[in-house]
Amino acid sequence: MRDVAIVGAGMTRFGELWESSLRDLFVDAAVEALGSAGADHVDDLYVGNMSGGQFVGQEHLAPLMADHLGMAGIPATRVESACASGGAALRLGYMSVASGMADLVLVAGVEKMNDGADVTNVLASAADQETEVYYGITFPGLYAMIARAHMAKYGTTPEDLAWVSVKAHRNGAMNAKAQFRREVTVEDVMNSTMVADPLTLLECSPVSDGAAAVLLAPMDQASKYTDRPVRIRGIGQATSSMALADRKDLSKLDAVALAAERAYKASGITPRDVHVAEVHDCFAIAEICCIEALGFASEGEGKNAARSGMTALGGEIPVNTSGGLKSKGHPVGASGVAQAIEIFEQLRGEAGERQVEGAHIGLTQNMGGSGASSVVHIFERV
Ligand code: COA
Repeated sequence: MRDVAIVGAGMTRFGELWESSLRDLFVDAAVEALGSAGADHVDDLYVGNMSGGQFVGQEHLAPLMADHLGMAGIPATRVESACASGGAALRLGYMSVASGMADLVLVAGVEKMNDGADVTNVLASAADQETEVYYGITFPGLYAMIARAHMAKYGTTPEDLAWVSVKAHRNGAMNAKAQFRREVTVEDVMNSTMVADPLTLLECSPVSDGAAAVLLAPMDQASKYTDRPVRIRGIGQATSSMALADRKDLSKLDAVALAAERAYKASGITPRDVHVAEVHDCFAIAEICCIEALGFASEGEGKNAARSGMTALGGEIPVNTSGGLKSKGHPVGASGVAQAIEIFEQLRGEAGERQVEGAHIGLTQNMGGSGASSVVHIFERV
């Protein structure tokens, strides 16, 4: 297996982008990624997308996107793992380069959610249709059950949840690509509309449009494209029960823990070595459960991390410096790739006001549905 590096990146702003179509978003991110590396071709393309078919009626994305990039003819594959589609696409892109099948691989994630689709029902198609969706559950409802389980087991409070969103919005306010660039207080979060008890509006990621793309190359060719490549040092991917009812403990995200264990083993990195992380905070409770599963906080202690400043910029382990899914936005198929871009910029020292000083090991964790799939990537500044 060859060492693989990210050598270029590009992403659109995230938000309600009424003026751009699904293909426009992809092309904008892809052209920026290629341009940033001075590349004029790719050997292979992976496109992470959860549900182009249901959101905008467009399936068969891989050839469409290759064609609109002016590269019809290249091999291209669309990758779906619900909200983890981008992370899963990045893993396949890595495998394409590492195996020697291709030298220059473009991995993109794209989603156009604001185009009139019944978003709540489209998202629910990533849950168990027979045992959950049939009975009327929504994604905020599933994560509300996870939150209730965490509260019952560990005494997690509504304030603990609110602090996660306060931190996300503080970071997102400094990110020009973020959907919401305003700070909020604990009171704002707790007093915002109740969506699914105990999760309020400001504890939910939004409905977003956007695309993100990274260019991968073998490490020994990276200098052709950049003087600051970021190496992908290890990857772990895992699955868990789809239906919450089949899980032994609702407050735990088994697929995240398993994916993390595999990524740590593959990279020889431990949670204590990580300087900055982007984790899948689709709802405030998700960040709390994810940082426990990743080993940044011990079991039941994730609830204190945002409130204490541990996961804030300047804290022990800054989490979601981009603003996370909550504030930056969550165009579902694009999020896993956008997480990698935040870490790419952090490790190259390009994160501006959000820069984590001295960061040289970074981690991303992307998750599908209510946690039935997860992908963890560990990155290293070279
Ligand atoms: N965070 C902050 N503000 C939000 C928001 C969010 N998540 N969602 C909407 N808003 C704001 C809008 O900008 C709008 O503000 P404005 O009145 O100043 O323009 C206002 O709240 C109402 O927006 P609207 O689009 O009517 O909200 P909604 O009630 O239709 O949707 C949610 C709100 C929370 C239901 C929706 O964002 C949602 O479903 N989020 C979860 C998405 C999800 O499940 N993703 C997959 C995760 S696994």
